[in-house]
Amino acid sequence: MCGIIGIVGKEQVADRLVDGLRRMEYRGYDSAGVCTVEGGQLIRRRAEGKLNNLVIELARNPAPGLIGIAHTRWATHGAPTTSNAHPHATGEVALVHNGIIENFKPLREALIARGRKFESETDTEVVAHLVSEQVEAGLSPQDAVKAVLPTLRGAFALAIAFRTHDDMLIGARLGSPLVVGYGEGETYLGSDALALAPLTQKITYLEEGDWVVITRDGAQIFDAANNPVTRAIVASGATAAAIEKGNYRHFMQKEIFEQPVVVAQTLRSYLRRVDQSVALPQIDFDLSTINRVTIVACGTSYYAGMVAKYWFEQFARLPVDIDVASEFRYRDPVLEPGGLALFISQSGETADTLAALRHCKAAGQTIAVVVNVPTSSMAREADLLLPTHAGPEIGVASTKAFTCQLAVLAALAAHLAVKRGQVSREEEAAIVNHLVETPAALNAALSHDEEIAAMAHLIAPARDVLYLGRGPDYPLALEGALKLKEISYIHAEGYASGEMKHGPIALIDEAVPVIVLAPSGPLFEKTVSNMQEVRARGGKVVLISDAEGIAEAGEGCLATIEMPKVHPLIAPLVYAVPVQLLAYHVAVAKGTDVDQPRNLAKSVTVE
Ligand code: G6P
Repeated sequence: MCGIIGIVGKEQVADRLVDGLRRMEYRGYDSAGVCTVEGGQLIRRRAEGKLNNLVIELARNPAPGLIGIAHTRWATHGAPTTSNAHPHATGEVALVHNGIIENFKPLREALIARGRKFESETDTEVVAHLVSEQVEAGLSPQDAVKAVLPTLRGAFALAIAFRTHDDMLIGARLGSPLVVGYGEGETYLGSDALALAPLTQKITYLEEGDWVVITRDGAQIFDAANNPVTRAIVASGATAAAIEKGNYRHFMQKEIFEQPVVVAQTLRSYLRRVDQSVALPQIDFDLSTINRVTIVACGTSYYAGMVAKYWFEQFARLPVDIDVASEFRYRDPVLEPGGLALFISQSGETADTLAALRHCKAAGQTIAVVVNVPTSSMAREADLLLPTHAGPEIGVASTKAFTCQLAVLAALAAHLAVKRGQVSREEEAAIVNHLVETPAALNAALSHDEEIAAMAHLIAPARDVLYLGRGPDYPLALEGALKLKEISYIHAEGYASGEMKHGPIALIDEAVPVIVLAPSGPLFEKTVSNMQEVRARGGKVVLISDAEGIAEAGEGCLATIEMPKVHPLIAPLVYAVPVQLLAYHVAVAKGTDVDQPRNLAKSVTVE
């Protein structure tokens, strides 16, 4: 969370810094700020709230200069006010930070005892003072940063500007991502390659503990031990077009509609059509020896993991543990030899998930990662990298990354089943054929968009909404409730259908819509019984099922949404679409900020 960018340029930088921030607003949007260096002055402009407020401030008070840093914030320490907005500065130094300085309290107390005055409540400001102290004592910027970095605990990506240097910025990373970009007579720093996409395609991903001095001539990189190091320059592949809305009203809407294409793209790299088999990337260990899978993730990615648990157990007969990452590490889980630890993440940078990954690695587990950003920390630390090919996801509420994760996890489940002798070659071929049908089924689900938009007004006035599902549709119920909460601010809960009678049934009355996810099949009858229990108490049911299910139980429902009849393996992918569309249209009906819901951020790089 938080996006940072820095430019050492040959042309004015303020507008280009703001443009870079616009590409990183998904990382946070509580406040924004820039600081340029010109004529021996640090010129700082900051504004509370969305980036447009900073644009207005810059129109009133321009920030001239050929060099500068900028930040878009997701507040951790201190309210989202202008005084807490980055860059934080002293007379000599200005800096932007992504991450958390965990030991900021003792550092701050010591600085105050030494007579330093603080302007903000942030953890970040201590770093500005610490570097400034060294500079004021006569150290060069490089030596000042070198002296301060080892005193910081926590996670950080930093970009630092110096009043007396209009030709140089210093960056550093530990635990939060930072890239260097190379232009023609210009050099850049950014939280990700997307931020720099219009400026350059030539990128270096800094390693943990690296720090870097950038000038117009390029970059000099040092490792944590201050040794000069060479890091590869790679083509970023990030295109500015990938993060345009096109004809859609919101990124979320665009991303929902991209699903048939990106799921097909993802499946293509896991399915071999020639012999109808599942093919994973080359790995140098035997997956058939795996005796247990531990799945760890956060948010929507966690729900993808919950669906995978059903699949791994059902198809591959592999025992699965699953945890949200923030709980996993601290409950001291038992990790036995021969285990596969599987991490699922869109960003590959979520701090809790990354910490859990490192914990499992230290405990000798084999590390598999399903991740959408192939250059992310998780991708780089995996033994088995299973990329999703969803493309950049900008809407804060995850949609296409989720279905792509499910596509990879379904392929992995099938592969594990084959490896463990649970599935014959013929059955594998049948599974591949079902998976190949997914994009068409997603298209069929998307064709109900207008109908779902038309019924959004039935849900929009509700204060509470319940989602019910059984088996792999239970995690979908949780995901549906999460989507609705995230973007429409309506309280929603997902429940296993059969569990409803143990509590949430007390909530049911005519004001609480109940969304039931129930493809026809062996569990359908039982779910219908739970639905009747709701109806008997005056509850209003929206049934999402296939034609058969709706024919059997649709009568008397508030509304029905018909999904194509699909194999149970791909049902969770298909049923994700109506819950996404429902949340989207309810949020639009309520007039909330769909792509940037309050208090949230897309990439949560703090624990
Ligand atoms: C945040 C986002 C969610 C996302 C979760 C996990 O909470 O708002 O959309 O599911 O982080 O992120 P990850 O990048 O690890 O999938």
